Amino acid sequence: MPKIVKEKNEKANKDSGRQRRVERFSRLRGMKDILFDEYRYWDLLLKKAADLAEVYDFRRIDTPVLERLDLYERSTGMDTDVVSKEMYSFIDKSEEKVALRPEATPGIARAYIEHGLFNQPQPIKTFWCGPLFRHEKPQSGRTRQHTQINYDVFGEAGPVTDAQLILIAYNFFNELQVGVQVQINSIGCPECRKEYIAKLIEYYKERGKRSRLCNDCKKRFVKNPLRLLDCKEKDCMEIREDAPQIVDFLCDGCREHFIKVLEYLDELGISYNLNPFLVRGLDYYNRTVFEVVSADDEGEKDEDGQRRQISLGGGGRYDNLIETLGGRTTPACGFGLGIERAIIKIKEKNIPLKEERKNYIFLAQLGEQSRLKIFALFEEMRRAGYRVKQAFTKDSLKAQLESADRIGAKYSLILGQKELLDGTIIIRDMESGTQEVIDYKKIYAEVNKRLDLDKQVNN
Ligand code: HAM
Repeated sequence: MPKIVKEKNEKANKDSGRQRRVERFSRLRGMKDILFDEYRYWDLLLKKAADLAEVYDFRRIDTPVLERLDLYERSTGMDTDVVSKEMYSFIDKSEEKVALRPEATPGIARAYIEHGLFNQPQPIKTFWCGPLFRHEKPQSGRTRQHTQINYDVFGEAGPVTDAQLILIAYNFFNELQVGVQVQINSIGCPECRKEYIAKLIEYYKERGKRSRLCNDCKKRFVKNPLRLLDCKEKDCMEIREDAPQIVDFLCDGCREHFIKVLEYLDELGISYNLNPFLVRGLDYYNRTVFEVVSADDEGEKDEDGQRRQISLGGGGRYDNLIETLGGRTTPACGFGLGIERAIIKIKEKNIPLKEERKNYIFLAQLGEQSRLKIFALFEEMRRAGYRVKQAFTKDSLKAQLESADRIGAKYSLILGQKELLDGTIIIRDMESGTQEVIDYKKIYAEVNKRLDLDKQVNN
């Protein structure tokens, strides 16, 4: 190749390299990143959830994110929105039909059967926390990946269990200063529901009603008429206003159970709203169904400009699910609450996060010699079990103390040139800003003295 052509080609290559833009990636629609500060809310919520689990004797379990697709088809239900419209399902490399879990209950029920938990003393009380995936239309409080905390009880049929679960949901939000109201209904058992559904169909068959239903409800009318009741379309909501109510059709057992649950709630002073249209969108429920919504707001505006209260948590009894999945008949009840929605509420209400100063000891230095010594002191103190923090890469003392403040350190130990020569070190109380020069050899005694004192004050 002639030299001049070669040079030209090289230049052209260089230029195109300079111009080439590397495509950046962004999150998938409906998915969120959680960055540092946001985790303060997560920590708060997860701690509250774990504390309640401990108080009420729920034990932590986890299940895989991926399960067989037919697990959800058989439990959540083929005709539910979750399964028919929202599931992330695919065929994996072993030709198996699988799905990212859209809800936790089927996986927990599968685990209960698979691990023979029915052989252990009942009830089994599970506490579960993890991400779930639903391909929904994203909007405020509705994402395609969300995180739930679930509390479930297996092997206990009595109404006190339903009431205790509702109490936990109620306590969770109230203790985080988010006032909630409980919406509650009973959808009976398969027996008494039969008669009710016949009446409901009769009602919807009355002149002019069916033609005004939305397309989804037209399908629901054929496949799952109970779900006509919880449609959020304006026309469908108007039509259902005078529909027969299921509570009027409950059999003796279901009625008694429901009354007892309400009695417990009354006794606990939990405010609830009997909502005859609450049926929940998942197939496995029977008897009690409930949701918790924010008590003092009008709800979120949706695409049609209508206000809807978004549910912060929901659940109910599912006495037939274990059997449906091949286990022995086992009553069960539980609920799930959405962490992201709870965080939205906490932020909306400007509920301050308690900034507790941690027992961190921050080690600050001024000058190369001090840095060397502090570097070693950090390791020594860490190995001795102290919660030490540092910012060795920073030279300025101001910047280091700002770091100490940011992480909420209780005390800082500051070693400068003068202290290095004198064999001393400064201890600074980060809250009050007071400082004292102490003997370097007495660091541990002085730190312990202060931490012990703090412990006494806080107890
Ligand atoms: P669920 O009502 O579908 O119930 O969801 C429970 C909670 O998860 C909702 O109240 C809401 O806070 C949150 N949530 C649901 N979908 C989303 C979303 N797309 N974006 C943000 N948050 C969401 C269940 O999943 C049942 N498995 C609960 C249960 C447990 N029933 C018995 N045990």
